[in-house]
Amino acid sequence: MTLSLSLTVNGDRHEVHLEDARPTLLDVLRERLGLVGTKKGCDRGQCGACTVLVDGRRINSCLTLAMSVDGAEITTIEGVARNGAMHPVQAAFIDNDAFQCGYCTPGQIMSAIGLIAEGEAGGDPERIREGMSGNLCRCAAYPGITEAVRDATE
Ligand code: FES
Repeated sequence: MTLSLSLTVNGDRHEVHLEDARPTLLDVLRERLGLVGTKKGCDRGQCGACTVLVDGRRINSCLTLAMSVDGAEITTIEGVARNGAMHPVQAAFIDNDAFQCGYCTPGQIMSAIGLIAEGEAGGDPERIREGMSGNLCRCAAYPGITEAVRDATE
């Protein structure tokens, strides 16, 4: 039996047909829709590299069955720039040198956008670090990441 899944991703509507209910949102985004900006790090909810927004809330897409978000609005890193201009969080990451290898950066940026929208962290570095604690950076660019999120919050 084929399952039908409807997703709006970065404003574009997609109908995806799945053989079964097992594919994760991460695999559908990367392998079916070609949106490879969302990264697969651990594939088990530990690193945050796969963070996307589902109806405005940040989630680990590797832990989310695609069928569970049928009908949802998804935002990935490919969808945050507008009219050729970077999202303020993207610009803040560049201004603050908030990456080294860059592999975790899409997830960091999506998590930061979600955190700022939640309005919980304000500009407080400690709360930003706590709010971003689900996103690991093997290069340990954490000071720059915290500064970038703080700048983007102001
Ligand atoms: Fe999803 Fe690591 S790939 S949390």
